Amino acid sequence: MSVTITANEKLGDIVVKFPQASEIFKRYGIDFCCGGDQILADALEEHSVDGTLLINVLNQTYDEAVKQGIEIVDWSTVSLSQLIHHIVNTHHAYLQQVFPSLTELTAKILRVHGKHHGEVLAQVHRLFNRLRMDMEEHMIKEEEAVFPQVVNYEIEPSYEKLEVLIRDIQELDREHDETGNIVKELRRVTDNYALPEDACKTYTSVFEKLQELESNLFQHIHLENNVLFVHLLNDRKKFEGSQLI
Ligand SMILES: [Fe+2]
Ligand SMILES: [Fe+2]
Repeated sequence: MSVTITANEKLGDIVVKFPQASEIFKRYGIDFCCGGDQILADALEEHSVDGTLLINVLNQTYDEAVKQGIEIVDWSTVSLSQLIHHIVNTHHAYLQQVFPSLTELTAKILRVHGKHHGEVLAQVHRLFNRLRMDMEEHMIKEEEAVFPQVVNYEIEPSYEKLEVLIRDIQELDREHDETGNIVKELRRVTDNYALPEDACKTYTSVFEKLQELESNLFQHIHLENNVLFVHLLNDRKKFEGSQLI
């Protein structure tokens, strides 16, 4: 087994290098997107996870992926425009597609199962709708204001443009934290999406879709926080280091 991933690396950097690590972190409740700056060793300690075991699992999974020829896209090597194109067409498009049906279905299960599971389902309904509203506004801000500025900056970089962008991404980063908190709260109020015995097909499908939404959102926020924003912050350091300001 080759050692590609070590305990001294940041969670976000590991997922940049090996995106499939996100599924393994998720299984252990390790937050790699909003908590991407955390060192793996510290996360393992915080979650009382056997470090040797988890690092072996990560490296073995990496080796298997390489052997099977699974394409491992290192997003830190693509241009910012390509990354933005991927985020918008994959992750924003996904949310736009699932939001309407989940709005309808979270209301439907509250209506049908409210009598026995009203407390949980009312919270799911409320939290999901808050998440939808927050994310819709957030994505409009990204697509209409911030991302076009990043593309423009990439074509013609300047320290002035970068300063404006850094202020914008700080705001987006705060919003990611708020969204991350809603996702965690959804998992908490549903007791990790545990289904009651009388859960019908729709109830089951809503809980499955919400978990899929969680995975997709984690990957989405990870690409913005740990790849796009980190790239811009590194550019600022380079500008300041070269004193070409
Ligand atoms: Fe986004
Ligand atoms: Fe975002």
